[in-house]
Amino acid sequence: MGRSPQPRLRCSGENAILLAFAGAKYVYMNDIELNEVKKFEAIKATLPPSVSCRLKSLNCSVFDILENENLESAIGFFYCRNFVHFLKDEEVAALCPLLKRLSTPDGSDMIFTTNSSYNPSYVNLVLNNPTATRFRTTTCFFYDFDKSRKPTAQIFCDVSVCNEDLDPLSFEKLYLLSKLPGEPKDGGTNGKWRVNPDARKLDSRLMSMFNEKKKNPELDLLFKSAKKAGIEILINTSRCYTRQNLANLLETHGLMIDTTFVLSANGHITNEMYPPHVGVIAKYLK
Ligand SMILES: C[S@@+](CC[C@H](N)C(=O)[O-])C[C@H]1O[C@@H](n2cnc3c(N)ncnc32)[C@H](O)[C@@H]1O
Repeated sequence: MGRSPQPRLRCSGENAILLAFAGAKYVYMNDIELNEVKKFEAIKATLPPSVSCRLKSLNCSVFDILENENLESAIGFFYCRNFVHFLKDEEVAALCPLLKRLSTPDGSDMIFTTNSSYNPSYVNLVLNNPTATRFRTTTCFFYDFDKSRKPTAQIFCDVSVCNEDLDPLSFEKLYLLSKLPGEPKDGGTNGKWRVNPDARKLDSRLMSMFNEKKKNPELDLLFKSAKKAGIEILINTSRCYTRQNLANLLETHGLMIDTTFVLSANGHITNEMYPPHVGVIAKYLK
């Protein structure tokens, strides 16, 4: 489905390995990202042969699995861990029939987990739009480059429900302001804040929000004290689910829902009010 590998993710198929330890006859670990497969293979190389001989990695998009391995009617259990939120709606619609095709003739059991929309930034929107799964998110970050390459502070996060089926993996970055030592001819700003041309692309409501938020005394101090700093705006459309709308979505595509649950950041079942992940246990009967 025309997807290219996505860098910067941290996961290495430990769950596939656990399934092999638990006695599964054979376990396939699939990931589109080569680095994830390499990490999996590195762990696999340390396992007892009785376990590693039942593990195989497939480095391709889930949509290309059948072109890489003859797994038609071969899989009795699927674990789609923190993966569905990478997909557009049209891809979820293609995933479910694919899982059915891969399922053994007796059907299969499935666990899905995804990012959740119980995040405090989204939760009010979700209460008013319980079926929403796409969130247009504009986040404004402060960078102090002398301290870290990561954002030092979040200035605002504006979220709205998105009506279009946009790619959750694509994003836009706007470099709003910069403060750099040195002469402009050398790329510096003489240690003063400079408004960059990208600022013209930010709509006036968000620009007013930025101007209002930066009056906060703590941010004001950061703005004044940093010597090499920048303001970046990140705009993307994330997919985030509640357990109800994840279950509804999968049910719409023909899966039978057994249970829904919520997970903490470390993957443990939780009763947190704003859990980072939600999950569904489902079945497909052929
Ligand atoms: C958050 S990770 C979790 C899965 C991981 N194997 C684990 O150890 O639990 C989600 C993975 O989905 C992969 N991914 C995203 N789109 C994919 C696709 N179309 N086909 C296969 N894998 C995909 C990403 O590269 C990422 O490594």
